[in-house]
Amino acid sequence: MWAELQGAVGIITGGAGAIGSETAAVFAEHGVTVAIADIVDPSPVVARINAADGRALGVQADMNDPDAVDRMVADVLEFSGGRIDFLINFAGLFNDVPRVPFWEIDLAMWDSVVESNVRTAFLATRAVSAPMRAAGHGRIVHVSSNTAAFGMGNFLHYTSAKAALVGMARSMARELGPFGIAVNAVGPGLVHTPAVVAAQEQKYLDQVVNGQCLHQPIVQRDIVDAVAFLVSPAARMVTGQTLLVNGGATMGSF
Ligand SMILES: NC(=O)c1ccc[n+]([C@@H]2O[C@H](COP(=O)([O-])OP(=O)(O)OC[C@H]3O[C@@H](n4cnc5c(N)ncnc54)[C@H](O)[C@@H]3O)[C@@H](O)[C@H]2O)c1
Repeated sequence: MWAELQGAVGIITGGAGAIGSETAAVFAEHGVTVAIADIVDPSPVVARINAADGRALGVQADMNDPDAVDRMVADVLEFSGGRIDFLINFAGLFNDVPRVPFWEIDLAMWDSVVESNVRTAFLATRAVSAPMRAAGHGRIVHVSSNTAAFGMGNFLHYTSAKAALVGMARSMARELGPFGIAVNAVGPGLVHTPAVVAAQEQKYLDQVVNGQCLHQPIVQRDIVDAVAFLVSPAARMVTGQTLLVNGGATMGSF
């Protein structure tokens, strides 16, 4: 899988975040040219990659802004000599999203969560689909969440947004398939990023781990390997699917 990805060019939105930055770094270690697009300055991730002799372009931009998204794709095409093989949509508010009953979600909160997770993926995929359609190949991955599968309480804005990405992957897979482009989603369980570990009580973290079939914490690298599979030739005929990377947490009760 990793050997076949060598020389590929990919865009990682939300690439300055915990899972996105790990994805960018591991892909770069394996010879992938990565473009890191984030509303937060991605230069520390670019510096980390360059220090390890990897090739990266950082683009600080709001993926909710269609013009900024189009400019980002143009910059990547210029940097890569006209090639984009894959796009992974990690961008989205998650850590600071208030967990409240849905009747306490005001419109501003709803819009910021849904737009940062759904509109960003729509805009980035729309922009990248033009060069991919012209090239006749491409791989897209939307980063959903297993909360969409089990319907997490007090998190309706987030679960609704993440469920939308599952439907978006399926519809895009249908429309882009004839152009040789595959579109899938991943649904991580609770990933023990530094922000998650800092924000959650140990009791809650243990409870989630014990609710999985596999009683080990999910870490960033688990998501990196899943998205790598989905953008690699190993997943050639996989499209319209959602791969849950959650240790079997949503298998239902026995
Ligand atoms: N950590 C988890 O447990 C977990 C579980 C399931 C799904 N996810 C999803 O995985 C993705 C990454 O999560 P993370 O833990 O690394 O979170 P994170 O907050 O570290 O990363 C998200 C990144 O998205 C960026 N972003 C937000 N809005 C943006 C916009 N409009 N334009 C450009 N960039 C924008 C942020 O700046 C941030 O760098 C998120 O979509 C999250 O919902 C995370």
